[in-house]
Amino acid sequence: MTDSVVRVGLAGLGTFGRQHANVLAALEGVELAAICDPHPESLALAAERYNVLGRYADFEEMIARETLDAVYIVSPEPTHAGMEIAAFQRGLAVFVEKPLAMNYEEGQRVVEAAKRAGTVFQVGLVLRFDPHHAFLQQQIAAGAFGQLVSLRAKRNITRSWFADYGHRVHPVHETLVHDIDLMLWMTRSQCSAVHAVERSFTGRANPDAVFATVEFASGAVGLLECSWFVPERAPANVVVEGWHGTIDGVLEVVGTQKSAQLSMLESGLKVWSDERVEVPEATLWPTLHNRVGGALRESSSHFMDRVRGCNVPEVTSIEDALEGLRIADLIIAAAR
Ligand SMILES: NC(=O)c1ccc[n+]([C@@H]2O[C@H](COP(=O)([O-])OP(=O)(O)OC[C@H]3O[C@@H](n4cnc5c(N)ncnc54)[C@H](O)[C@@H]3O)[C@@H](O)[C@H]2O)c1
Repeated sequence: MTDSVVRVGLAGLGTFGRQHANVLAALEGVELAAICDPHPESLALAAERYNVLGRYADFEEMIARETLDAVYIVSPEPTHAGMEIAAFQRGLAVFVEKPLAMNYEEGQRVVEAAKRAGTVFQVGLVLRFDPHHAFLQQQIAAGAFGQLVSLRAKRNITRSWFADYGHRVHPVHETLVHDIDLMLWMTRSQCSAVHAVERSFTGRANPDAVFATVEFASGAVGLLECSWFVPERAPANVVVEGWHGTIDGVLEVVGTQKSAQLSMLESGLKVWSDERVEVPEATLWPTLHNRVGGALRESSSHFMDRVRGCNVPEVTSIEDALEGLRIADLIIAAAR
């Protein structure tokens, strides 16, 4: 379908769905043709803002009634698998926010449905489109680091955000899937063993702190840490409309020839006010000149090129996303 307009239906108009809607509304050759959310107010506000005629409370109704090329699934994590399978059964291309599914077994069913459909399938593991991470991965792939010895990833999050996520998804699937995916991308190896510890200080359905060691067949060792206790007044790097807080993300890579450190809190820009300190993150989803740019836009642009059948470099990998789910399940089981 080269050169034609890609008609998209978007499910989920919460914090991140609105970010995707901003991207889609500004992408050349893309029409945000329909949106769906069971929350009437979110639906009405988004329909008005993006001038969308197709408005639905139900995903299956949206894909049954509308003529679409692709769907974006940005609804809560437990809804992903059912929507993906329904979309594949209609031959639609699918962009799903992470996680691909709630566990490996569910993920396998989704990937089988995707293979049967033969359509484009991409998981929103956005860090593969972030220039810092991509630069690092490129150097590692070219052999500049020698053999990889260790990858240490921390992803600690603003305390109040756990109220939204703590009851609906395990933090390994919510945040560490990003780091697991980076490790798979950089080591180009599979996991051979996992050790893990979890803690629950807040008593929600899911733990609020998880620590894991992942051994890779290549010999590299991955060290993962994630907890949800970053104080409310820590320097904020997520400063977008309706969404404010801190992702304290760090990646340290040690190779036999080179090593690297990357911190999400060192953007180079600091903004002070009487209320707080901001260090706005400017490579993932900055709103500049009235449109969302950065890695989020790049990932959608890449997806659209794939839907149009263009020849694009292989950046994302469904096999890695599925292996990431297997590792996530192993961490959860080991910690328990
Ligand atoms: N890649 C990233 O860095 C990143 C960041 C934030 C969120 N996310 C992912 O984005 C997804 C959405 O997260 P969020 O923070 O926007 O959540 P949210 O709770 O802010 O919004 C979810 C929205 O989905 C709607 N919804 C609920 N059930 C639905 C259904 N059956 N069909 C359609 N819509 C439905 C809700 O009404 C709500 O408007 C999750 O998968 C999350 O993990 C990814």
